[in-house]
Amino acid sequence: MDLYIEKVRSINEKREAPPLAHVHNYGCQLNVTDGEKLKGLLFKMGFGFTEVPEEADLVIFNTCAVRENAEERVFGNLGFLKHYKEQKKEMIICVSGCMTEQADVVEKIRSSYKYVDIVFGTNAFDRFPKYVFEVLEGRKHVYDETGPGKDVSEGNEQIRSSTFKASVPIMYGCNNFCTYCIVPYVRGRERSRLPELIIDEVRGLVNEGYKEIMLLGQNVNSYGNDLEDGIKFPELLRRINAIEGDFIIRFMSSHPKDAGKDLIDALADCEKAGHFLHLPVQSGSNSVLERMNRRYTAEKYLEIIDYAKSKDPDFTFSTDILIGFPNETDEEFEDTLKLIEKVRYSNIYSFIYSKRTGTKAALIDDKTPYSAKQERMQKLLELQRKITTEDYKKYIGRTLEVLVDGPGKGGEGTLTGKSREFIIVNFRGDSSLTGNFVKVKITGARNWALDGELAD
Ligand code: SAH
Ligand code: SF4
Ligand code: F3S
Repeated sequence: MDLYIEKVRSINEKREAPPLAHVHNYGCQLNVTDGEKLKGLLFKMGFGFTEVPEEADLVIFNTCAVRENAEERVFGNLGFLKHYKEQKKEMIICVSGCMTEQADVVEKIRSSYKYVDIVFGTNAFDRFPKYVFEVLEGRKHVYDETGPGKDVSEGNEQIRSSTFKASVPIMYGCNNFCTYCIVPYVRGRERSRLPELIIDEVRGLVNEGYKEIMLLGQNVNSYGNDLEDGIKFPELLRRINAIEGDFIIRFMSSHPKDAGKDLIDALADCEKAGHFLHLPVQSGSNSVLERMNRRYTAEKYLEIIDYAKSKDPDFTFSTDILIGFPNETDEEFEDTLKLIEKVRYSNIYSFIYSKRTGTKAALIDDKTPYSAKQERMQKLLELQRKITTEDYKKYIGRTLEVLVDGPGKGGEGTLTGKSREFIIVNFRGDSSLTGNFVKVKITGARNWALDGELAD
């Protein structure tokens, strides 16, 4: 790998000014991390960076395949790049990530987006410098279709976009094959990173001053299952919590089928993780959960929630909901609303089902009209608005610890951040507080955020 990095670097060094690269990430945090690794490689190859695609000499669209609208956006934006490339013939255009793990997508790029130079998937970091070199030397196209791979990517330095929030993948891939989901096909089977490497990385980040560590995996609760003598996720949490320093631990995502009391116990004990859990339920109907192949029931899910609430009545939860799985009935959807009322989430990320070719659900003849799905989405949002409007009031008068994200939308002197419970908090303060923990006394509640004032 280093050979090609050096070769590209020596070509780039002959230029008057370093060429610029633009990396655009679509999709989840894991993709953002991959984009940061690609930036690490580009930097070693002698590239600088720009946020403006038309200024760039090399553009990477690091894509997401989870929903159709994400894919459409990529193709739309590729259309814009065509115009830029007409002005600047030597521009190198690359498409990477989850979309390119689908043969039909690569075929579409091959036939209709001929100006794309390099197409590579989710596990091709070590080959990327070679492809850049070959294109610089005149190769017309590279289509790497080797598949998502079986390796754990190690040793690729990341150029991180934030100086205080860092994502750390703990595992790659997914074994669950929920019937609606493309991820297992584009990311391959589960493989865990060694605990020592994760802990070393977190320790290094904390020493550098990072304040939020986000542990990533499609199902962090199956962390370690593939490792010989591997530790499990609750133990990993405890070990990371024991690292000295002023930081918080977050993680995504937990699959309810593998979320046990040991996870809740670890959260209750680990002060750096806090009493908060993102636990995607997808549906509150047992028949839909079965058709989704989620392998838990609403009752089993609620048992975990109740156990957490029995440890701390203020334990907070967020979730993902998939609305309109093929042939979901009104009654089945009502079960989802009932579950939401029982849990009372602090936040819900809801998505209307999108058909993904290659998944089992794509074969179902879906009789539910799209308009009914949109109506369900409205109902769900209304219910969630009502719940947060009521529940956020309980924070008024309390003082919350908030990690400051930066300037708020309210103009000069306003700041925004997230509390331990992952709730948005808006308050007044100096922008120099960005990236620090502050104490904020909550003075007001809206249906999507809290207002407050600095307490010290
Ligand atoms: N591994 C995570 C989810 C990753 S995908 C988990 O199991 O929770 C993130 C979210 O995208 C999912 O929770 C689901 O709600 C949504 N999603 C997945 N496939 C989808 C599809 N075909 N259409 C719409 N939303 C989808
Ligand atoms: Fe997709 Fe299910 Fe895997 Fe999550 S657990 S990535 S929803 S298949
Ligand atoms: Fe999208 Fe791939 Fe993440 S499909 S959600 S970018 S794992």
